[in-house]
Amino acid sequence: MEGDNSYLEATALAKLRRFPLKLVKGVPLMEPIADGWDIVENFQAFPDDLIISTYPKAGTTWVQEIIDLIYNDGDAVKCQRAPTFVRIPFLEIISPPPIPSGVELLNKMPRPRIIKTHLPFHLVPRSIWENKCKVIYVARNAKDNAVSYYHFDRMNKTQPDPGTWDQYITKFIKGEVAWGPWSDHVKGYWAEKKTHQILYLFYEDLKENPRQQTVKILDFLERVLPEDIIDKIVELTSFSSMKNNPMANYTSFPKNLFDHSVSPFMRKGEVGDWQNHFSEQQRQLFDRAYARWMDGVDIPFRDLL
Ligand code: A3P
Repeated sequence: MEGDNSYLEATALAKLRRFPLKLVKGVPLMEPIADGWDIVENFQAFPDDLIISTYPKAGTTWVQEIIDLIYNDGDAVKCQRAPTFVRIPFLEIISPPPIPSGVELLNKMPRPRIIKTHLPFHLVPRSIWENKCKVIYVARNAKDNAVSYYHFDRMNKTQPDPGTWDQYITKFIKGEVAWGPWSDHVKGYWAEKKTHQILYLFYEDLKENPRQQTVKILDFLERVLPEDIIDKIVELTSFSSMKNNPMANYTSFPKNLFDHSVSPFMRKGEVGDWQNHFSEQQRQLFDRAYARWMDGVDIPFRDLL
């Protein structure tokens, strides 16, 4: 299966469109996921599964690449064996047949598996917690996360049209976007990180000191790599390396799914880009909502470096 993405063939792709969102236990998800929810809910984990969990656009692909390189001792050639979405399947993704679901891909994968999910804590399949799987969670400051998600929804032709930036901010604040409210997501994993094996990382820390964060991941995974291999991993996972890596930049994804001419998947990769998008009025609106979400919460987010 690895390297083979022939399932993304024309007939299947023709069925893809901007799917409406449907609630699953209060969380809006793309319709095919909601309709096939029992497949996701009944996913069977193994204790050696590693889960990478994020709110969409928080740095998932970046951490996926770091971890795949760690699992392959920094071997760049091995990590070019297939696009990210084949190497590390997306647990809850369900598309119209014959495109296999994330769970179907995972069921065919050799162990140990690395699994991507955007599910908020309370929707993660029970088997993952029963098997005490390790989870690497990545959070990104709310404003940059919103900006990145807006541009992604413009280019991703399977999620609802984001409308204008002004309209999108309102939807984002209300949590009326795929995978629901940013605030519930980041708070849900934060609250559970002491009772489960969750390594909670921040996009901003990865930007500031990628080497230190890579070592943190290695320690969490109880793995050791030579210093020069760690340096190599940091270099291979820089924004510019990944932007130029066809196996990490989603250009191998069909154009009627991800239209990079609208906005490239590897867009800017910066901290603080929100300042180029928010008007003063929008910032105030957002900050008022943010103060409500974060009242009494001690997650050390940083907007700017
Ligand atoms: P921007 O839209 O701000 O550029 P995800 O993988 O969760 O979908 O997140 C995508 C976001 O992470 C995009 O943010 C993308 O550019 C950024 N990103 C991906 N790889 C990165 C890297 N190696 N360094 C910094 N940012 C990266």
